[in-house]
Amino acid sequence: MNKITQTSAWQNLQAHQINTANLHMRDRFAADGQRFDKMHETLHGMLFDYSKNRVNEETLNLLCMLADAAGVKQQAEAMRCGEKINISENRAVLHTALRLPLDAEPVMVDGENVLPKIRHELSRALAFAENLINGVHLGVTGKRITDFVHIGIGGSDLGPQMVTQALQPYHKTVRVHFVSNSDDANIAQVLASLNAETTVFCVASKSFGTPETLLNAHAARTWYREQGLPEAGIARHFVAISSDVNAAQNFGIAEDNVFAMFDWVGGRYSVWSAIGLPVMVAVGESKFRQFLNGAHAMDEHFFTAEYRRNIPVLLALLGVWYGNFCGAAGQAVVPYSHNLRRFPGYLQQLDMESNGKCRTLHGEAVEYHTGGVLFGEEGVNCQHAFFQLLHQGTRLIPVDFIVPMRTPYKIGRQHRFTVANAFAQAEALMLGKTLEEARAELVLLPEAEREELAPQKEFPGNQPSNSILLDELSPFNLGMLMAMYEHKIFVQGVIWGINPFDQWGVEYGKVLAKTIEPELSQPRDLQHDTSTCGLIEYYRRCQNLK
Ligand code: F6P
Repeated sequence: MNKITQTSAWQNLQAHQINTANLHMRDRFAADGQRFDKMHETLHGMLFDYSKNRVNEETLNLLCMLADAAGVKQQAEAMRCGEKINISENRAVLHTALRLPLDAEPVMVDGENVLPKIRHELSRALAFAENLINGVHLGVTGKRITDFVHIGIGGSDLGPQMVTQALQPYHKTVRVHFVSNSDDANIAQVLASLNAETTVFCVASKSFGTPETLLNAHAARTWYREQGLPEAGIARHFVAISSDVNAAQNFGIAEDNVFAMFDWVGGRYSVWSAIGLPVMVAVGESKFRQFLNGAHAMDEHFFTAEYRRNIPVLLALLGVWYGNFCGAAGQAVVPYSHNLRRFPGYLQQLDMESNGKCRTLHGEAVEYHTGGVLFGEEGVNCQHAFFQLLHQGTRLIPVDFIVPMRTPYKIGRQHRFTVANAFAQAEALMLGKTLEEARAELVLLPEAEREELAPQKEFPGNQPSNSILLDELSPFNLGMLMAMYEHKIFVQGVIWGINPFDQWGVEYGKVLAKTIEPELSQPRDLQHDTSTCGLIEYYRRCQNLK
């Protein structure tokens, strides 16, 4: 395949950007009363409005040609069928297989249909969760389990934690807690509220070798022992989720208590597997199955819809348009939902760990920007934080607004107010405010004062956004939303010719920390730069160590 920058699609987009750079979205809306009708899609309980973007039909057609030139359809099919598209790890990429319905065609990896294994592990995990919820699985002293502590990090934490929190209205009987950070404040605060007799710990690590997780798992086991409960009770109070079942057993977790993961599911794509156990424990089997069904509905749409009507493809192409052709400085994601407050953090890993790459699949240096800086915070809160920069800063930062249309809480007019703010921000970012409009607002001021203040109140506008509306934040819709972003990221990875499914950069950081930890406690000949040596020595002084 040609380098993507040498395709006519890429070059036409460059020329098109120059030709359309002066068009303001306000004028695009004024010129076409049907713009919203033409530029939104609906899928089950989701509405995707992308009309507030710096695009017209020609832009969208050119972007679809780019997807075609990059081979997005073929690569999506390769992923779906279990081809080993994660080249650097020689693995298939099959998170979509985790949410296939019972009547699905076999999915073959190395000559074996993976669906029976997936279903077996899912049934085991769901049965375990239901046994906790219904008081069938009791603690070693015969008491009902009230608390479940999930110990994991990265993909073994962010997805499960975000989903558990997002589905708070559906929670059943067991309280679910998360411990991820090696900073002892995390585990100390969780343990402080627990009774060992009524707590189950789950050590979640695909590799079962991640130091933060093992550190916390050991701390949890030590705490359990210190509570004076019998050693044999560990079998009732500790479970694990891992693709390295032996390592989990060596840690002391009974074989029956280990739920298997598969090497063809990346950590950040794994909440659909047994890694979703905390979600299962929180909301039970039927809601978890609805969550999987929602993701599958988005998969079906992604694998079958033409590019021009395909929600994840459009989302990806818009991101490429801004990042590679319009000079965007980042991407903001703002859920107008307190229960989705961890969504930006989850999405950061999904997006930045996947597409933060500077080499192509074949090892060449890329000549264009790949994954960008993604950040976000729950709305409306972030309107009082970083929105000033979006409205009047100098940088181009498109925004995804995620807004549930109904809430189960029904307190006052809170929800309507929140939705109104989301819609108003998207409108204001798009419209802006001209100098004339600013002057008109200040008509009562003396002229000199008005002329001084009006430029401060001018907003350039033309700031792009997508509005992703969910009829409610249900398990099904959340599954759709997450699968939408997974596929968006995949499409971008294909266009950039990179591998979204490895993470060698993070692996490197893990290795470096291993060298420094012993140096913090024992005097050694430090072989680091002077800054790192200075920091290590300062730590030692603070601990009164020589
Ligand atoms: O952050 C790096 C990473 O390898 C992630 O990709 C992964 O989700 C996380 O560490 C945790 O890994 P594990 O599940 O193997 O403990």
